[in-house]
Amino acid sequence: MENHLTVVDHPLVQHKLTLMRDKATSTSEFRRLLREITLLLAYEVTRGLPLETRVTETPMERMDAPILAGKKLALVSILRAGNGMLDGVLELVPSARVGFVGLYRDEETLEPVQYYFKAPEELQDRMVIAVDPMLATGNSSVAAIDLLKQAGARDIRFLCLLAAPEGVARMKEAHPDVSIVTASLDRQLNEKGYILPGLGDAGDRMFGTQ
Ligand code: URA
Repeated sequence: MENHLTVVDHPLVQHKLTLMRDKATSTSEFRRLLREITLLLAYEVTRGLPLETRVTETPMERMDAPILAGKKLALVSILRAGNGMLDGVLELVPSARVGFVGLYRDEETLEPVQYYFKAPEELQDRMVIAVDPMLATGNSSVAAIDLLKQAGARDIRFLCLLAAPEGVARMKEAHPDVSIVTASLDRQLNEKGYILPGLGDAGDRMFGTQ
């Protein structure tokens, strides 16, 4: 599918991403940069939002002015690192409804298992933006999108900070209708499923855990 992957190569995005990759960057700085970069990525991922016109009186004259149409968009955080991207999107689209998907990996089967799911109503009528900073193996992202589709979502975009080629391929195979917006397509995964060159564990870096 065309436009399956968009890498936002804007200089501000790339500059902030480099600061985030730096292992010397503090937790508070990492969080601030993630919010700022997400705001810029959100601009790109919301490009397809539908518009209608509203009759508006400017100080000069009356016009048909464009305004967002339809149901409020649904922003869905894939726990826990997705939460670091909520504020940036909400700053740009404050009226968005917010949902959460929680998954853990079963150590025996290695399959993602759902432990939490709460999504806004009428998903089928909303643009749904799923957020998770790292698209690595793609296992949890694909499972989260499966759940959103089961809940009725039809127009889903995936917003991440970094993507690995393996995760992009997995998502494309499982959900070719879901377009991905990211700040970088990195080189590869290591044997533990971490992105290289990457930035380490995004959740740990934003929450100060290890
Ligand atoms: N999740 C992370 O936080 N970092 C990676 O590199 C891969 C998955």
